Amino acid sequence: MTIPRLEIRRLTHRLPSGGRLLTILDAIDLSIGAGESVAILGPSGSGKSTLLALMAGLDRPTEGEVLLDGEPIHNLSEDRLAILRRRNVGFVFQNFQLLTNQTARENILLPLELASDEAAGTRADELLDQVGLADRGHHYPVQLSGGEQQRVALARAFATRPRILLADEPTGNLDGATGERVLELLADLQRQEGTTVVLVTHDASVAELTDRAVHLRDGRVERDEVVAGGDRVGYQRQVVAG
Ligand SMILES: Nc1ncnc2c1ncn2[C@@H]1O[C@H](COP(=O)(O)OP(=O)(O)O)[C@@H](O)[C@H]1O
Ligand SMILES: [Mg+2]
Repeated sequence: MTIPRLEIRRLTHRLPSGGRLLTILDAIDLSIGAGESVAILGPSGSGKSTLLALMAGLDRPTEGEVLLDGEPIHNLSEDRLAILRRRNVGFVFQNFQLLTNQTARENILLPLELASDEAAGTRADELLDQVGLADRGHHYPVQLSGGEQQRVALARAFATRPRILLADEPTGNLDGATGERVLELLADLQRQEGTTVVLVTHDASVAELTDRAVHLRDGRVERDEVVAGGDRVGYQRQVVAG
């Protein structure tokens, strides 16, 4: 039996709201294999960003477990979590989150230098080329369009060859055509590098590019479907609410 890249067991998250506890995620089970690409779909407020933050070790669950290659991460100290995130997790945000006082190339170099990668410069140049910005490496974020900034952010997220790459609404601030280009690039990089990708979106068409679509509703997995060759081939698991 192979150990999944990411496994989530009975993951529950509650937050205080107006003097009572609100259940944001309700006993979620999910297993994601190495190299798999998964879209997390669902309406606004269904818990997508919360789930992603818990997968990244950015927050701690109220109950349940998060395992990366079989290793529990939900109970690591802050220091250990920071190291784990730096080495093993790539993150792409809706609003790019590039360092504004650093050039495109420097933004990509940063995680490589933090990981003491001796080939950092070569890797940064290779990635700039892969995202079609070979001649823009010396530009600052303000000199780049939204789509270009997100391509830099993609290059940065893939730089250290993370074990898992998480993207929360990466096309949310881009127009349709630009968003599509960014997603195709994400899919290309994912295939080339064999990266495990979890992509949050509320746009069903975005999920066309992934192997699998997990639908959340009210903090539960409503549907978990496998996709092959662009077609939904069937439900892996059907979860009926109630
Ligand atoms: N820090 C917080 N405090 C209180 N409620 C929160 C907090 N973060 C998220 N929520 C609530 O949790 C639910 C799920 O939020 P979120 O994970 O951001 O959903 P999504 O990303 O699917 O839109 C929403 O009802 C939201 O209002
Ligand atoms: Mg969200």
